[in-house]
Amino acid sequence: MKLTEESVVKVLRNVIDPELGVDVVTMGMIKDLKVSNGIVSFTLELTTPACPYNEQITREVKKAVESIPGVKSVDMKVTARVSSAKRTLTNQVSLSGVKNVIAVASGKGGVGKSSIALNLALALAESGAKTGLLDADMYGPTIPKLLKDISFPQQVGDKILPAVGPLGIKVMSLGLLITDDTPVIWRGPLVANAVKQMFTEINWGELDYLIVDLPPGTGDASLTLAQSIPLSGVIIITTPQPVSVVIAMKALRMFEKLGVNILGIIENMSYYICKKCGEKAYIFGKGGGKLAASQAGVPFLGEVPLIPEIRIGSDEGDPVIISHPESEVATIFRSIAKNVAGRISMLSKVKRDE
Ligand SMILES: Nc1ncnc2c1ncn2[C@@H]1O[C@H](COP(=O)(O)OP(=O)(O)OP(=O)(O)O)[C@@H](O)[C@H]1O
Ligand SMILES: [Mg+2]
Repeated sequence: MKLTEESVVKVLRNVIDPELGVDVVTMGMIKDLKVSNGIVSFTLELTTPACPYNEQITREVKKAVESIPGVKSVDMKVTARVSSAKRTLTNQVSLSGVKNVIAVASGKGGVGKSSIALNLALALAESGAKTGLLDADMYGPTIPKLLKDISFPQQVGDKILPAVGPLGIKVMSLGLLITDDTPVIWRGPLVANAVKQMFTEINWGELDYLIVDLPPGTGDASLTLAQSIPLSGVIIITTPQPVSVVIAMKALRMFEKLGVNILGIIENMSYYICKKCGEKAYIFGKGGGKLAASQAGVPFLGEVPLIPEIRIGSDEGDPVIISHPESEVATIFRSIAKNVAGRISMLSKVKRDE
């Protein structure tokens, strides 16, 4: 068979993205394919820089092309372009530059939403995705306290430019606009407005992922977000204890009822690793998050151990992914980020097929 662009495409139709179950040609991942004098050049466009299977797909695509008779060399560029998994309901704010808004929610307070939202945003940014982090906790905005290395938001024309944090993440929080410790007192409708304004009045620019850190429970901020903003999905955080899981499931059901995709469940404070013997101690019980995910029929995205570095990172404004990039917990956050990005790729594919 003569070596042509068509014959290369035919071979590449056999390389399947393991996560999406679809071949790389049908997924539109092969761009600018040229064949000349036995040299095959093309760009492989992955669905997210944080895909868990990127290395495998890249390897398989290269191997498949190299094995075609007559191929002397393969000139392959690899890029990534995140697609949108937004689900737009009626009367929602339109967000043109932001491809995916991902909410981080919980039933109970203090389970680690803000810590996880921040480290997740940083892990996605580290993978090369354009990432933002919005603190939607209007009563107790905490994100600025968790990040010492952050600029101030700027007013440009009638819009506000978000602050910029480590790894270039764009950050917005009420805590960056009001600087003293006066408690914020406002009633439901005002909270709803403030949440909406975080999208309409802030110039987020182009983002692959905007992570939204919610206050606990199913209050005004969560409701407004689910109803007014086209979300790609929500991540539910729980600790292993049954009380936390039961309330987390209530939050999950609320988002489901409102038509929001559930990206999955993350269990935080899953176990403590003994510094002396390295054993895992399951202080709050074992497997609550996993069980909840299987009961709700949603993916389990990972478990984060209870470790002092996370608490110290929060207190010192130096998130663990930045302060301890080589640590096991940083690796865990990167793997959770890959699971989330993979899930978004999958949902955006389902959306395109609809
Ligand atoms: N895995 C962990 N290991 C150790 N400390 C943790 C861990 N996760 C969170 N923490 C600490 O627990 C406290 C609460 O975490 P965080 O503020 O992230 O929770 P939250 O769910 O956002 O709380 P709230 O409901 O008040 O918004 C913080 O001091 C944080 O540093
Ligand atoms: Mg919080």
